[in-house]
This record gives sequence, C-alpha cells and structure tokens, in this order.
Amino acid sequence: MLLYSQNTVKNIHTIFMRSLFSISILLTMFVYAGTINAQRANYDVIPLPKSVKVDSVKVFNLCKDAGVAFDATNPEVYRNVLFLCEWVKEMTGIELKLTPNDKKAAIKFSLDYPVKIDAAEITEQQKEAYIIKVDKKGVSIIAREPAGLFRAAQTLRKSLPVIKGAVKPVELPFAEIKDEPRFEYRGVLLDCGRHYFSVDFIKKFIDVMALHGSNQLHWHLTEDQGWRFEVKAYPTLATQGSVRAETVIGPGNSGIYDGVPYGGYYTQEECREVVRYAAERYVNVVPEIDLPGHMQSALHVFPHLGCTGGPYPVRTYWGVSREVLCGGNPETLTFLKTVLGELCDVFPSKIIHIGGDECPKHRWKDCPKCQAKIKELGLKSNDKHTAENQLQSYINREVEAFMKERGRDIIGWDEILEGGLSGRSIVMSWRGIKGGIAAARQGHRVIMSPNVYSYIDHPQLKDYGKQPRTTDSYLVSASKVYSFEPLIPDSLTAEQQKLILGPQVNLWTEHVAYPQHAFYQLLPRLGASSEVQWCLPEQKDFEQFKKRLPRLKKVYDIMGVNYCRQIE
Ligand code: ACM
Ligand code: ZN
Repeated sequence: MLLYSQNTVKNIHTIFMRSLFSISILLTMFVYAGTINAQRANYDVIPLPKSVKVDSVKVFNLCKDAGVAFDATNPEVYRNVLFLCEWVKEMTGIELKLTPNDKKAAIKFSLDYPVKIDAAEITEQQKEAYIIKVDKKGVSIIAREPAGLFRAAQTLRKSLPVIKGAVKPVELPFAEIKDEPRFEYRGVLLDCGRHYFSVDFIKKFIDVMALHGSNQLHWHLTEDQGWRFEVKAYPTLATQGSVRAETVIGPGNSGIYDGVPYGGYYTQEECREVVRYAAERYVNVVPEIDLPGHMQSALHVFPHLGCTGGPYPVRTYWGVSREVLCGGNPETLTFLKTVLGELCDVFPSKIIHIGGDECPKHRWKDCPKCQAKIKELGLKSNDKHTAENQLQSYINREVEAFMKERGRDIIGWDEILEGGLSGRSIVMSWRGIKGGIAAARQGHRVIMSPNVYSYIDHPQLKDYGKQPRTTDSYLVSASKVYSFEPLIPDSLTAEQQKLILGPQVNLWTEHVAYPQHAFYQLLPRLGASSEVQWCLPEQKDFEQFKKRLPRLKKVYDIMGVNYCRQIE
C-alpha cells in the first residue's frame, strides 16, 4: 500500500534535510561562538611581542571577582596595577580587586625577572623587558623594572576582548609571552608651533603613544608662526610671540587669509604637568627650541636679534623664512642661553632638541655683524662647508657646551652636519637617511626620521580626495611607514648600527589645526610605525599587521580617538 505519494516522500525528505541543514548551521554557529569566542583574549597585538607561545586548548577564566597581587610598598608598581585595573574595566567591564598579599590572586605583578643583568651592562631595552605567563593559577606579569610592568599591562589590555559589562568570565588562553623593544628611542614629534594644541589633547596624545609602546615625545615648541614656551626672563616672548595676526587658508600658500588672530602658549607649570603625566606613562618629553632659523616669532618680540632689525610679524603663512637670528650679535647667545636654561629647569630630558634645520644664510651673508664674527673666528669657506654654515656650527658648539654644564646632550636636524658636527651631538635624519649614515660614520648617535617614511602630516591614502587636505607633495601610506628599516645594514657596520638610537614619526601641523584631525593623521600610521620601533625585521609582515589592526581599532574607539578607517 502506498501511504505517501512519491511527491510527499520527496517533500518530507526535503523538509528533513532543510531542518538538518538549519540545525547544523545553528550548531556550527554555537560551536564557533564557543571557540572563536567574543569572550576570549588574543595576544597577537600591535606591536607584536617578540615571542608568543599559546596553548590554544586550555584557558584561564578571568572572573568578575578577580584579584591583583603586587608589592604594595612600591608606588610605581601600584600605579601600573591601577592602569591595568582601568584598562581591564574599559575593555571588559570587569572590576579587578586589589589584593596585594593574596598568593592565589588571579593576576600577580612581580619584579622578580628570571634573567638578571648587571646594572653596568643593562640596555634601555632590557629595562623594559617583561614576561606574561598565563596558566591554571592565573596571570603572572614579571619585569625587571616597573617600565616593563607597564608595557606588559598594555599588551594585556590590547589582548582583551571588548565586552560591555562581561557577565561570563573572560577566557585567557594559557600562554607565555616574552617581550622587549628593538630600539631604545621610539619617537613621535608633535608640532605645536604651527598650531597650538591644549594640554588635555597632549595628554591624550601621550596615552596613544604609550598604547603603541612609543617612549619619546618630541615636542616642537617654537616656530616662525608661534612661540609656545613661557620664558620667565622674557615675559612678552610667549604673550606676544605666540600670536599671529591671521593664518593662510588651505594647503600650500594660497594667498588668502582667514583674518582671525591665532595664539596660545604653554606656561612652565603646564609643561611640568605634561612632563609628569608623560613620565608616569614611561614617555620622555624631548622639547625643541628650533634655532637659529624658524625664529621669526622671537624676532617679532626682539627685532634687534635679527640681522636687519625688522620689523618682523609673527609669520602668517608656511614655508621657510629668511629671517633668522643674527649669528654675529653676542646678544643672540645670551638670549639662547637664557631660554635654554629655563627649558632645562622645566624639562628633565637628558637630550634636548635645538633644531638647526632650514636656516637660510641670505641675511648672514649681507650682515656686517655676522661677517665680522666669521672674520673674528677665522672661518673660511672650503669644499665641505661654507663660512656661514660654520658660523651656525659655532652657535651649536656654544649651545652644546652650555647644555653640557647642565648634563644634557643636544639633538639637531641633519642640517647641523653642514658646518661640521661637534662633541656628542645627536643627528635627527629627516632629508632621507643619508644624514643619519654620515653622522653614524662620524661616530655620532642618530635618530632616523626620513620624511618619505615618517612625515605623517602627508596623505595616507592614494586618493587625496578621500581624506582631509594636508601637506600633499607625496604619499606616506601606512604600508610605506611600515616598510621602513632604520639600521641600513648595507651602509653601516655593526658598530655604526649601534649608534642608531631608533626611529621617529613626525606630525607637522601646518594643515592640522584640530585634535580629531591630528589623530586621523596619526592613526593607524603610528600602529605601523610601532612595529618599526618595537619589532625585529623578521617579525614584520604588513598583511599580518592588517589582520591584527581591527582589534587595535576597538581600543582607539574606547579611547575616543579618531583614525583613518582605510589602510593602504
Ligand atoms: C623639517 O622638516 N624641517 C625638520
Ligand atoms: Zn647678522
């Protein structure tokens, strides 16, 4: 007897198959959710740690009542514990408990790093080393110095999933992470001369730097277009030198002006606040007073320090000014030493930037005082250096000796090579890498910041129309930033390579006036640069970097900072 027609059987079969298919999809989704779980940490962060060994099966459950053990007598350790608590809460909603003496705490901070190194031998990078171990007992964070604990806490932060108010435990796969940075100097320049940025913004900028493991904020404080550092001996220098009558509109020099006075400067108290804030995040602030060029704002206040006597308006448009400090007036050095003396009182950095770039010599060539000084010093043009370039080197040497008495070394842009390098001066190579190579060959330390890889005021996308307009003479895409190798093995011996302290990216702000635009220029290119700064070349892989980036962007979102959504 035929109970069902063939069609009915076929229909039942179809219904059965469809249900099976739906169930299997549901099951797959369920299993997927359980394995590539939104609740699970992933240690492949940016910058990528040196070594990450993960057991993909076993996990430690970080619950909402998890405690943190640490040495409560060490305030620096305590501060880093508080950072981790803040970040774990932001990422997962879990509020860790402070349980300093609990040997069974879920997270333990310790300075008992297994491999000891003599204090006389240890490198700056080894001071930042850390280990994170995750096993059935929980998470152990071990470093030699508190700086390492901070770096470890950042890695853990970036590993966490983003969950709003975790109800279930966060799963931390068993792992051993060992890490330390490649370079001791990992810099970011912020130009506050062309545009003034608030102290609150600068603190956020430091937070973003620290997130990426960068440790040197090169703070460009003075420019033709504005003097931003309070000098108590010269009260009008900042009050008047920081204000320009108006600003040219649009990228390049359009000749059209906004008619709006623009100004702002940092009091010494504010600078100290920035230094303190940065130091708590293991960022050193390297201030720059750019001399003897880029000084038109100072000349506005003190026209007698210029070769022509002025008057000099605070510059309202971009480019290189011919109006520079007079190299032959003895008051120039008095002025510089007064300014730099106060700078040293405010900024404890062992290295101070004195600029030295783009100082045209037109005025010096025609100035009786400059020419008299050249004669007095017996400077003669030769096939390597002009007499005027040697006059700039004379100023550098005077400044260097003054700074040495205060225990500081000077850094200059690579133009300082042009009149002959002095003493222990450090060269920041920006017009490509050749200045850096030449300086290292002469035994000088070097920071590599070649413009085509490092000038992040430039566009990051090929389609310039898709991004805010800025300095647009060439493209500095994230992949270009990522591809930079600072050690130039073909051109430098192993000994000379040791003089390369590290790389830096530069955020010039002629065309960047607002915080969210500044972060757009910075991110995610600082992410790309962080792997140049932190990782070994053999670890680098741009395609892998791109895969790791979406999780870092979630941290940017939590921090409320803008970033370029596309990456090329
Ligand atoms: C520079 O870009 N003038 C250092
Ligand atoms: Zn002069």
